[in-house]
Amino acid sequence: MTENISNVLRDRWLTRFGLIMAMSGNAVGLGNFIRFPGQAAEHGGGAFMVPYFIALLLMGVPLMWIEWTIGRYGGAWGHGSTPGMFHRLWHHPISKYIGIFGVMLPAVIGLYYIYIESWSLGYAWQSMTGAYWGSETQAEMGEVFRNYLGHGEGPVAFGRQAYLFFVITIVVNFFVFHRGISKGIEVLAKYGMPLLLIMGLVLAIRVLTLDTVEGRGVSDGLAQIWVVDWSALGSPAIWIAASGQVFFTLSLGFGMIHAYASYLTKDDDITLNGLATVSTNSFVEVILGSTVVVPAALIFFGMAGIEVITEEGIFAISFQTLPVIFQQLPGGQFFATVWFLLLFLAGLMSSVAMFVPLLSFLQDELDMDRNKALAGIFVAVFILMQPVILFSHRGIMDELDFWVATLLIVVFACAEVIIFAWIFGIDKGWETMHRGADFRVPRIFYYIMKYVTPVYALALLLWYTMDDEAGLIPVLTMQGVPEADRPILWLARLIIFGFMAFLIWGVWHAWRTHPKFFDDGDETAGETKEAETQ
Ligand code: PHE
Repeated sequence: MTENISNVLRDRWLTRFGLIMAMSGNAVGLGNFIRFPGQAAEHGGGAFMVPYFIALLLMGVPLMWIEWTIGRYGGAWGHGSTPGMFHRLWHHPISKYIGIFGVMLPAVIGLYYIYIESWSLGYAWQSMTGAYWGSETQAEMGEVFRNYLGHGEGPVAFGRQAYLFFVITIVVNFFVFHRGISKGIEVLAKYGMPLLLIMGLVLAIRVLTLDTVEGRGVSDGLAQIWVVDWSALGSPAIWIAASGQVFFTLSLGFGMIHAYASYLTKDDDITLNGLATVSTNSFVEVILGSTVVVPAALIFFGMAGIEVITEEGIFAISFQTLPVIFQQLPGGQFFATVWFLLLFLAGLMSSVAMFVPLLSFLQDELDMDRNKALAGIFVAVFILMQPVILFSHRGIMDELDFWVATLLIVVFACAEVIIFAWIFGIDKGWETMHRGADFRVPRIFYYIMKYVTPVYALALLLWYTMDDEAGLIPVLTMQGVPEADRPILWLARLIIFGFMAFLIWGVWHAWRTHPKFFDDGDETAGETKEAETQ
């Protein structure tokens, strides 16, 4: 009874176009325009693309299908988050606890992602008003950036403008989020994604028609991304970085795609839609993202323009190098505004997704009233973002990012692929995935999903736990972290642990008190259920 009610009341995607745009909007984000060029530049440009495409094929595409399938399957019982979904795939007491990662990870990412997104909005405003015009070198723009963020001598980082734009950004996010799946997220994506593509194209064309600077032209810029130095492929770091990027950019291993897919109906296609999501994201990342950022930096500044990333960090190209370049172009203010609005829009369409699993969890599993749950999430997010903002100069964002967006997503991905392909069973999984499918996935992916993806993910995990430079141990023991910053990093960990503890309690409580979870049924009941609903 309860399930039927929750199913009737569940929101759902209204159109196929809206669904694909929303899924792509979720995937396309700051990862495509900031993280990808940063990673590519740091790991040898063209050489990075080889492990990137391999990871895309062996992990990205299969996991995308798997997550859609798990989501639609769990959604048929009214589960919008992975604790309930995993419970349906595997009737073992532990499965629902593994599922809490799919609620925690995206929400914790949201805590710093929204802040970075707000910088883009702030910079769009500053570009439009020409506020930083006149700061014409990278060093000067670096100064502008630090001032904007309030990174000075003081104990806390506080920039008035940065704070103002943070408030605007969080309000915009919650406005869309509170309107729900079809009226909020789908509507935003239906207009936002096409707009984003147009803005990306405008910038890409601008870069592709740049004149040569000191002998460096467009082809040199593109070579930076497309010419492969095969010898660089020997180092494991490049493989790890490329795989991590594939996870991040496709929003895989977060519980995010599952949540969106839970709003599908039983006959909605998964195979073609999933592939469309991957393709759109890759197009934006590889064609638009890499055409704009890296070549522009190279043409104007040569290799030094690229190396700024290694020296000054991942945000330097977007927030320092590009603004310097825009100032030298005719109509630069226009292009600068487009660039930062593009970042903002890409970020927004991703961040509106990040609390969807949490909201579903509170509503579906803890039976909370929707408005109360929304208000609770807003207040919690607002409060938890304060330390992220105020200690942004002390490494809190990197710490959060390592745990949630580097390590734990791989843990979660390993768990889900094993649960799906080995416990639920690849045969059943394959069949479930193909229900309502618009095309049959080539059989080879059956084997990839069963053997290659799990092994690949486990190998990645093993590397993270073993590596003594960037792996678990050095991060855990805070190697090389100044004494003064350590409490801040502990705070980051406390946020993660606190959140986990809450969710563990939530799952325990829900499964104890909420009758719908006791009708475990057997495996066939599961299938009938999916077939019956809607
Ligand atoms: N895929 C998004 C990006 O590329 C990031 C993201 C991660 C979005 C997790 C949602 C959840 O920026």
